[in-house]
Amino acid sequence: MLVLGVESSCDETGVALYDTTRGLLAHALHSQIAMHNDYGGVVPELASRDHIRRVLPLTRQVMAESGRTLADLDGVAYTQGPGLAGALLVGAGMARALAYALGIPAVGVHHLEGHMLSPLISDTPPEFPFVALLVSGGHTQLMLVSGVGRYTLLGETLDDAAGEAFDKTAQLLGLGYPGGPALSRLAATSDPGRYSLPRPMLNSGDFDFSFSGLKTAVLTLVRKVGIAEAAHIAAAFQSAAVDVLVGKSLAACAHAGASRLVVAGGVGANTRLREQLSREAGLRGIRVFYPRLEFCTDNGAMIAFAGAQRLAHAEAGLAFAVRPRWELAALGAV
Ligand code: KG4
Ligand code: ZN
Repeated sequence: MLVLGVESSCDETGVALYDTTRGLLAHALHSQIAMHNDYGGVVPELASRDHIRRVLPLTRQVMAESGRTLADLDGVAYTQGPGLAGALLVGAGMARALAYALGIPAVGVHHLEGHMLSPLISDTPPEFPFVALLVSGGHTQLMLVSGVGRYTLLGETLDDAAGEAFDKTAQLLGLGYPGGPALSRLAATSDPGRYSLPRPMLNSGDFDFSFSGLKTAVLTLVRKVGIAEAAHIAAAFQSAAVDVLVGKSLAACAHAGASRLVVAGGVGANTRLREQLSREAGLRGIRVFYPRLEFCTDNGAMIAFAGAQRLAHAEAGLAFAVRPRWELAALGAV
């Protein structure tokens, strides 16, 4: 089954082609980071307009690279949410129109399911069940994943997401947007022990997170020691954030009896997180799986893959669900 995937939830247009027997055939991405940089964050209207400009050329590019034609497609997957409404509508509109014109099914994918399953786009994917640490710009969650669509939330952030904390701290330190990569580059050359910052909720006994207090502690520290210390502050922040992410993830694995941990989302690209997690998990006999570095942040491949899983099951007539609890008020209009 050949599935085209389209991601347009935020500031990256991603398109990819996934074949359920041959794997990922092609993928292409356009990042809007440079465009939004002047504004210090994503401008939704500009994002939507840029997705419109990019989505068809990127689609033509992946079709050409794969040597396939639109007539070969069996389905189209697109990010249905969560994300910026206008940006989502571009990918959804294009995907639905294409599927309608070709007479093939279209499937809306949950952006976080895309992230969470992205480590499965691999020759050596993790088996189910596993614990997933989802660390993106908008979400921080620990999930128990028993299969595609079988997700149990173990814990999540009570305020800022991990990526948001990296971005806000980077902003306080005068780094650009998005700040995570810049902050981690700066931290790499500095002393994480010069300043000590809190590890919020590290020992709270649950799997929830809180990052807003850490951001405030950084602000207080910047005021006290000055911006000239930015590199050491960045290292102290990164060390505190990573300690919490690692500690909670391993506690969640112990709680769930899981020997596999999957890390997904933009912060999963963080080198210190990867090193510390792999080391500490290894000591406990837990194997950690990451997506390819380029698939940590938003991309079309994860949407094509997640959509293909859903379409393949639907085509085989295996996917159905009953709703023992179903709010009448939750029904959408026709
Ligand atoms: O998953 P993603 O591309 O978008 C969302 O769905 O939110 O994640 C983007 C987030 C941003 O907050 C960015 O600063 C962070 O991931 N990020 C990083 C790194 N690379 C990206 N944070 C820390 N270290 C990195 N190397
Ligand atoms: Zn994302």
